[in-house]
Amino acid sequence: MCDVPCYSDIATYLYGRDIYISDVVNSLQRYFEQLRLDFPIFSDVEGGRLIYLDSAATSQKPRQVLEAVNSFYRRYNANVHRGVYGISVKATEEYENARKRVASFINARPDEIVFVRGATEGLNLIAYSWALRNISADEEVLLTEMEHHSNIVPWQLVARLAGFKISYIPFTSEGYLDMAELDRFRGRPIKLLSFTYASNVLGTINDVKALTRFAHEIGALAVVDAAQAAPHMRIDVKELDCDFLVFSGHKMLGPTGIGVLYGRRSLLEAMEPFMGGGEMIKEVRLEAAEWNDVPWKFEAGTPNIAGSIGLAAAVDYLEKVGMDNVRRHEEELTKLAIELLSEIPFLTIYGPRDYRDRCGLVSFYLADIHPHDLASFLDRDGICVRAGHHCAMPIHTRLGIPASTRASFYLYNTPSEIEVLAASLRRALKTFKVIP
Ligand code: ALA
Repeated sequence: MCDVPCYSDIATYLYGRDIYISDVVNSLQRYFEQLRLDFPIFSDVEGGRLIYLDSAATSQKPRQVLEAVNSFYRRYNANVHRGVYGISVKATEEYENARKRVASFINARPDEIVFVRGATEGLNLIAYSWALRNISADEEVLLTEMEHHSNIVPWQLVARLAGFKISYIPFTSEGYLDMAELDRFRGRPIKLLSFTYASNVLGTINDVKALTRFAHEIGALAVVDAAQAAPHMRIDVKELDCDFLVFSGHKMLGPTGIGVLYGRRSLLEAMEPFMGGGEMIKEVRLEAAEWNDVPWKFEAGTPNIAGSIGLAAAVDYLEKVGMDNVRRHEEELTKLAIELLSEIPFLTIYGPRDYRDRCGLVSFYLADIHPHDLASFLDRDGICVRAGHHCAMPIHTRLGIPASTRASFYLYNTPSEIEVLAASLRRALKTFKVIP
């Protein structure tokens, strides 16, 4: 970690007391500029310039995470929970230690943390292990219209087997979930409400506590897709009072292929396993088997050991920076992006106008330039953005556009990168002959 912790400490102290002075903002900005040095890709990338504005798709990795993964493979690579020799014991300790660090990151107990491949697998696990067995044909699952495909398709797949109905809470033209519509769902046999903490297209941060409370009032479980939230803000599952919560390691400085399913212990205990294989059993006979305790009951086969160790290093890194500081930094970047992009002619921004209601991303459409063409144009300036439907086709259908361009931010981004983006977008208007 860069050697300027005092900025972060001072900023945390003052922000915590709502003291907002320009010196602190500058200090914090300098602190985040220093943090960038921890990310080798910004100096090692081919071509020399990388303005990476696609962290909602996947984040860059600091050397601390790369070194943790490298160290596992170089110094104690062995399988976990299986060997009695030194390096296997060490690998097991580090794997279980990673679980403890992730648990503490979201204020859960270690036995409530199941390592999965990512948020997608976590949601599939809940759909197949809980919903398939607990929701019948005359009952319902409630989702929202602002979900990523990973929080729609697993429920559709299981609905085909179980026969249950799926309903959706709509979002308003301003990009907020329409909370006034909730009452419409009262009195219906809804067994589960699954919703995104923060939309990967609109950027909207939902009122998770209110939605969870509503789910419990109508007798449903509350499932939170925190893929776009866990990397960027403090999460406390006890405070949110959710039943399940999922997120992915690769969006929060960790490696790909590792993610987290949090579940209330009583629920996890009552559930059947998602997959069968080694490690998830207590005893296997030819006729039948008995399952292991939670969370291992859900971790069949050799897990992603290196991934979990890398994720723990990412959690350490984020905690050292301070999640409230990460959030503040991204609020500043989002505010600036909305300001600068709003001044560009023919540009439409989607989602809430108030940056405080958004996570660090801005999706937009520029004139009639197809987002793929625009993204290729920006790439020539070294700017990486995502273009397309962002695995959220229903949102785009509702917005009446086939695709959008999305710039998304993380702790290594700087205000000057947003300024470069805005300047490039203005140039695009001329190149694509929208203006002379
Ligand atoms: N879910 C990721 C995104 O929104 C991949 O880009």
